[in-house]
Amino acid sequence: MAPHTLPQRFYTSEDVFQAEIDRFFFSRWVCVGRDEQVAKAGDFFLAEVAGESLIVTRDVAGALRAHYNVCRHRGTRMCAEQSGAFKDGRIRCPYHAWTYALDGALVVAPHMEPDFVRSDYPLHSVAVESWHGHVFVNLSKTPALLDLSLLAFDAWNMGELRMRKRISYDVRANWKLIVANYNECLHCPVLHPALNRLTDYMGADNAPPSTDWIGGTMGFKAGVETMSTDGKRRRAYLPGLSQTQRQQVVYYAILPNLLLSLHPDYMMTHTLWPRAVDHTEVVCELHFHPDETGPIDDAVEFWDLTNREDWGISEQSQQGISSRAYTPGPYSKREELLHAFDKIVESGA
Ligand code: FES
Ligand SMILES: [Fe+2]
Repeated sequence: MAPHTLPQRFYTSEDVFQAEIDRFFFSRWVCVGRDEQVAKAGDFFLAEVAGESLIVTRDVAGALRAHYNVCRHRGTRMCAEQSGAFKDGRIRCPYHAWTYALDGALVVAPHMEPDFVRSDYPLHSVAVESWHGHVFVNLSKTPALLDLSLLAFDAWNMGELRMRKRISYDVRANWKLIVANYNECLHCPVLHPALNRLTDYMGADNAPPSTDWIGGTMGFKAGVETMSTDGKRRRAYLPGLSQTQRQQVVYYAILPNLLLSLHPDYMMTHTLWPRAVDHTEVVCELHFHPDETGPIDDAVEFWDLTNREDWGISEQSQQGISSRAYTPGPYSKREELLHAFDKIVESGA
């Protein structure tokens, strides 16, 4: 019998949602942003992962740091700005002025007794790593190593690329429906007339899925050079790409929340931020080579249109799956990546 889609509870149950947040977002490496957002010591941004507010910053030695946004005095959330730079390289609680160094060490604690030991109260920190410019955090107390070394994406030099456009979308759908939608293109001729003019939806070449990522490549149709409003390429190829890499887009979902789309002349990222069982914030960014300063509307407009088509159908999926009439339906062979993803979800891998 053909494998079937997941039972309804995976898309509608609060309990399943919370269990997935614990398993995927609290225990795995989650992509929260880019190195360039914390280029200098004291730069910071906030990320909300598994319901927790985190401060991501860079210390004076140049190392990335991530701390719970929770004061060790009386627990106050310290930082309300979404991003910025800490004055004097100090994280200062606005309540009673307990003050921390960028590495989390408590350096000032007014009014405490003389025998108070500041080193007993550093900020609660979490593991943070950078992979080709992408910043990942892991909230687990015993995080596994971040190992994406099997993804051979060195040629794109992702660490060099610079973000030029960010659009945030509020999608009324479970986060897994967005991952699933990303990982198949059988819907492309039906849903994406513009995209379907550029790539051959039957030409997808799926890599064997792992428990950490799912993806593959898709080649362009004749005469097409990149994903843009007209398929024309207005920028140089990213340096270092092979002939093959210039003729395709690489699409990988790095679980749980980074969708990485490598084009011949730019990189698109989506990060997924589940807010409720049926609600996901999706942040889409386009990143370009620093030498490219010309217009980027061709890529921005193309992907904004395609994104909106995908979010719309994901919302309609959420609505239909929530019906009393929904029962799991059969996958075709060409939906094998979705079945692989479902198995990861089901098995708690
Ligand atoms: S709660 Fe932060 S200084 Fe008192
Ligand atoms: Fe799509």
